[in-house]
Amino acid sequence: MINVAIDGPAGAGKSTIAKAAAKKLGYIYVDTGALYRTVGVYSIRTKTDYKDPEAVEKTLPHIHVDLKFIGGVQHVFLNGEDVSEEIRLPESSMAASAVSAVPAVRAFLFDLQREIAKKNNCIMDGRDIGTVVLPNADVKIFLTADPEKRAERRYKELLEKGQKVEFQDVLDDLVKRDYDDSHRAVAPLKPAEDSILVNTTTLSLEESIAAIIDTIKENL
Ligand code: DC
Repeated sequence: MINVAIDGPAGAGKSTIAKAAAKKLGYIYVDTGALYRTVGVYSIRTKTDYKDPEAVEKTLPHIHVDLKFIGGVQHVFLNGEDVSEEIRLPESSMAASAVSAVPAVRAFLFDLQREIAKKNNCIMDGRDIGTVVLPNADVKIFLTADPEKRAERRYKELLEKGQKVEFQDVLDDLVKRDYDDSHRAVAPLKPAEDSILVNTTTLSLEESIAAIIDTIKENL
């Protein structure tokens, strides 16, 4: 199976770009952030303090997370319920970032990610795919862009979804998540040594997709 790992900070356009590239190449697209978000949503729903690692760890035996690909589109299920929309709420993002720092959560989601990659040609995106989950991926890309540019994209996306947000809050959230994701003790966000850096700050969406497809083809 061909496995492409794409890692990078929040809002770099990983999901949009990877999804489009996967479609063109006929691979499935796996968004691993959705898994951490789902664990975060469970904490929110059960009023568990998601900043308390021990409390979060205790929720794991009660959680079953599953990914299904319906018409090529990834849906994530929490104990059988499709939570693909709910995981995108801003509070779910903060909860996801917090629970993703808990080693037991990472271990809990590890096998699921590995199994999908074993069975499918895929582009998998996340923070630690090239470094931890798929260290033998055929191609590893580290996708990034300047924080302001990333916040601008995320802000527009949220507005389009009808959510009322302030640009400054989006930027602040993003900078905080970047910091937390890259300074945590387990599987911090960092480029794999053998990854290829792609910076999309000055690229349009189409140019970014083309850059990723070219990078994959050149390195397979
Ligand atoms: O990509 P995203 O914004 O949906 O990810 C949500 C959170 O999950 C993010 O703050 C970091 C974490 N995450 C992670 O630690 N490892 C991954 N492979 C994917 C996401």
